[in-house]
Amino acid sequence: MNACRPTPRSLTPVLGGLLAGGLLLAAGPAAAAKITIACGDGGAADFCPALAERWAEQSGHEVDVVTTPQSATEKLSLYQQLLGSESGDIDVLMTDTVWPGLLAPHLVDLADYLPPDATEGFFPAMIDNNTVDGRLVALPWFTDAGLLYYRVDLLEKHGHAVPETWQQLTDTAREIQAAERAAGNERMHGFVFQGRAYEGLTCNALEWVASHGGGTLVDADGQVTLDNAGAAEALALAASWPGEISPDGVLNYMEEEARGVFQAGNAVFMRNWPYVWSLANEEGSEVAGKIGMAPLPHGPEGESVATLGGWSWAVSRYSEHPEVAADLVAFLTDPEQQKAHAIRFGRNPTRQALYQDPEVLEAQPFMGELYDTLLGGVPRPASVTGEHYPRVSNAFFNGVHEVLAGDATAEEMLQRLEGELNRLGRRGW
Ligand code: GLC
Repeated sequence: MNACRPTPRSLTPVLGGLLAGGLLLAAGPAAAAKITIACGDGGAADFCPALAERWAEQSGHEVDVVTTPQSATEKLSLYQQLLGSESGDIDVLMTDTVWPGLLAPHLVDLADYLPPDATEGFFPAMIDNNTVDGRLVALPWFTDAGLLYYRVDLLEKHGHAVPETWQQLTDTAREIQAAERAAGNERMHGFVFQGRAYEGLTCNALEWVASHGGGTLVDADGQVTLDNAGAAEALALAASWPGEISPDGVLNYMEEEARGVFQAGNAVFMRNWPYVWSLANEEGSEVAGKIGMAPLPHGPEGESVATLGGWSWAVSRYSEHPEVAADLVAFLTDPEQQKAHAIRFGRNPTRQALYQDPEVLEAQPFMGELYDTLLGGVPRPASVTGEHYPRVSNAFFNGVHEVLAGDATAEEMLQRLEGELNRLGRRGW
């Protein structure tokens, strides 16, 4: 279908002919198009609506902003429904770093609409991640990595260091939670994270497992690696958190619920993405100026692991205005908008040069200090499992959720899941 559509490249000879015939002058300026963009959840951390408006003002086109669910898993279902029915309702989509392999058949090759140097200045690995069978299906907007947030004031008050292992985190969280509750803060919790059964739990649990030397669910050769002692040890420890150092409700937390508790001053530690830093330090936040950020803890033998995340912009192949939509994608990911995103929202740029930008580093010193952690994250096994990734991730987060809820032991669940995933991947991913 896409192949039949005229692209700027294939239009060139036509334009040349029109110009030679003097016809283009009579055609006048291109008509304004209306582009519909699927932004984030419209919450405090969603810069997309403002940027889309900015583009509309500059370009003279109209833009319609659609907000989408906070949960990446629900966002994906929405996209799958829309794209599966070849609906042209959405032109521009925000896509997760784990989706290119799955969504590629529904997305245009941006190289057909953008100049040849459109990918210059981006981290090459992020462009590679968005390139499927030689087609550039999305341009990277920001990158993400899991981090540990902690209360500097509470660690100092109770004489504790920033934990380096998950066991230390567990012990410190328990002690400070008890002391603070005894002193009158009944609502204090030790640790909040993303424990709901959705993509965010896959990100959290991958960090626990991989930092115990337990692998990354499926290895680079496509072998399922779940059923091992490191993974079991990691998940058994995590299962001890809900109702002890974490609220019972953590089993239903996504990013924003965890941020809400931490930002209200009611948690010692939190696992979250870098965007929380700016919001938690804003005026009016209970914890402004009282928090620190560090690499996540690790298991007794392992090393700290941050799950790699991030979002890109893509154009639906069912869009009626792919060239205008691609222009919006280029705008959203250009250096100026990424710089504003980094300064105001602490979103990590996907363009290398911005990490040396003095204004970015002044506004967000962590981008310099945690550079290796932010960019050295561990990817989820999305490239190797391709279109099957959501099934792998769903099986994993559902299994981990059962363990956290006390409905299965880590060993039982891992053994069962390894069998399930082996059946799924038997004929190759
Ligand atoms: C963040 C990450 C994304 C991940 C999601 C899970 O938005 O950037 O990659 O899938 O969290 O909740």
